[in-house]
Amino acid sequence: MSDKTIFAYSALFDSPDDIIHAAEEVKKQGFEKYDVNTPYPVHGMDDAMKLSPSKLGYVALFFGLSGMLAAIILTYFTSVVDYPQVIGGKPFYAFPGYVPVMFELTVLSAAVLTVATMLLIFFKLPNNRHPLHDTNYMKAVSSDKYGLYIEIEDEKYDEAVIKSLFERFNAKVIEPIYYDDTEVEHKNRIFEPKFIIGLVLIAVITSGTTYFTLNKLMFMIPFSWMMDQDKIVPQESYELFADGFGMRNPVEGTIARGQLPYEYYQKPEEAAVALINPLFPTAENFALGKKKYDIYCSPCHGYHGEGDSRMRGQFPNPPSLHSEKVRDWTDGRIYHVITEGQNVMPSYSTQLSREEKWATVLYIRALQRSLNAKESDLE
Ligand code: HEC
Repeated sequence: MSDKTIFAYSALFDSPDDIIHAAEEVKKQGFEKYDVNTPYPVHGMDDAMKLSPSKLGYVALFFGLSGMLAAIILTYFTSVVDYPQVIGGKPFYAFPGYVPVMFELTVLSAAVLTVATMLLIFFKLPNNRHPLHDTNYMKAVSSDKYGLYIEIEDEKYDEAVIKSLFERFNAKVIEPIYYDDTEVEHKNRIFEPKFIIGLVLIAVITSGTTYFTLNKLMFMIPFSWMMDQDKIVPQESYELFADGFGMRNPVEGTIARGQLPYEYYQKPEEAAVALINPLFPTAENFALGKKKYDIYCSPCHGYHGEGDSRMRGQFPNPPSLHSEKVRDWTDGRIYHVITEGQNVMPSYSTQLSREEKWATVLYIRALQRSLNAKESDLE
């Protein structure tokens, strides 16, 4: 140890009170390059040493603000310059929507970059060589002693003065700390090729392993739930059938559930005889008939069946439903017109169910009786 350079003069104390008073005195005497090492944070030490708050706070502020600025530039560029889109009538730069982005980037860069600055700039990592390493002093203060050392580089350094000061405050061990010039250097080493290559290696290895495990080792065909099935969707072609169409017509004679095929297409006379209104003339059925008539028939036939169309000549006016001809028709004959249509009048089969058609017929009968009442109606 003898051919080494002296780094500092150190003292070990037994109690926190001693070291606080010693530190106060050292500061009072005007020493600058000194430090205190204790096994745990000692209350009042910051005051005794008159330490100013850490500068790390300014670093965090700086990185936080730059993160926010980056977020503002990013959101502004993407949504105003690069790809402006009107969404729900909002302005391109709808500020409230971007607050979360700004918040996240502020916090992210403040946290990550402050920690990085602390480690790399303040602590000078990856340089972890320090004269105090592997000394008895360091071993003692990391178990149960309270240590203080003053570097020889301090302008006021004077061995005799320091020794007597330490003694006044009950220092138990007072000794110089030596170090080896070849082993210790205080330079920052972040730009050393070794360190940079190390970082690059770590990045390549971690990303490579992640890629390999997730994309090769554990690769599974994405599970598309039930999107992919062996079936033909509407409008799809299918070469199994001669015509190449995937969609098929129902087999001839197929009857859909709940539907009766109409037997009297093109046969109004047969329908007139065979079809009988199954509905009783109840108030309920009249109401249903009126409702359907007003919706589907009145635009052309008029609310009272007189042929006074509301179509303003856009469609040929129909004949009156009060004509002797229609009055003499059976219910089945009217039902037939509604079902099949007649000349320019279209079929109402898709709009009206069987019941609704018969109810409409009932209502038409009521309209007819209102203009041409029978003798018996007057009694
Ligand atoms: C788009 C207009 C229009 C609508 C809606 C319409 N009709 Fe007609 N309707 C006509 C026309 C036009 C005729 C005459 C057809 C022809 O030239 O034979 C007609 C004829 C008729 C006839 C036969 C009259 C006759 O003298 O030959 C009946 C009955 C009838 N409609 C009932 C109805 C009923 C019931 C509805 C409601 C379900 C209805 N129509 C809805 C236009 C319409």
